[in-house]
Amino acid sequence: MSDESAAVGDDAPVLTIDGPSGAGKGAVSARVAEALGWHLLDSGAVYRAVALAAVDAGLDADDEAALVELCEGLELDFARGEGGVSVLLAGKPVDQRLRSEEVSVMASQVAALPRVRSALLDLQRRFRRAPGLVADGRDMGTVVFTDAPYKVFLEASVEERANRRYKQLKEQGESVKFLRLFRDLEERDRRDRERAVSPTVPADDAVVIDSTDLGLEQVVDQVLALVRQRSGSEKTKS
Ligand code: DC
Repeated sequence: MSDESAAVGDDAPVLTIDGPSGAGKGAVSARVAEALGWHLLDSGAVYRAVALAAVDAGLDADDEAALVELCEGLELDFARGEGGVSVLLAGKPVDQRLRSEEVSVMASQVAALPRVRSALLDLQRRFRRAPGLVADGRDMGTVVFTDAPYKVFLEASVEERANRRYKQLKEQGESVKFLRLFRDLEERDRRDRERAVSPTVPADDAVVIDSTDLGLEQVVDQVLALVRQRSGSEKTKS
């Protein structure tokens, strides 16, 4: 195993929740972390923060050397507040800009660069702390925390994910076309699955949960049941 794929840090347990955009990872991860009393890593926010800092620094999406340097000096923090977790860049909250279209596009471009991904490994692994960590992303179980005892891959059909996104945007008062969302999602899925570095695929030891016909609570219950079941069998082994 190369240094890059070996998980470092202490031996606090990690639950990885990977999957494509719109499968509900964010909401499920937040609920499960709260129920377990564990820390939470939103790795998508890490890539978005790099993208935002890059936009502000006027960097090009293909300037890998400059982006790596930026990752190495990234001052990123997550602060728990009343409205949930807030992302701080150099001490300032950046939540709204983090979700803008400009930053989303830049994030998917920088996330495709192998040296940027390597430069962010230690930063992500430092979130592993007692009593445990829920890590939400695309490659948490396959690259960043390969030795995690609990791994979930959350899926949902493209139709269902496009539907959820459509409703969300409508509620926010944005005018969107369903077909456009559907096609964008399909295209992004293909790019994520087929990219050379850290493609969005389930780890061999991940449990795949299809949330197409499940509500949030049902998915949360299934994930918690998996943690209980696997932690029970670990205790029996030792
Ligand atoms: O989950 P999200 O939409 O916030 O992720 C933002 C971008 O970062 C998206 O293009 C996928 C990418 N990403 C990644 O490549 N690896 C991760 N572990 C998390 C996100």
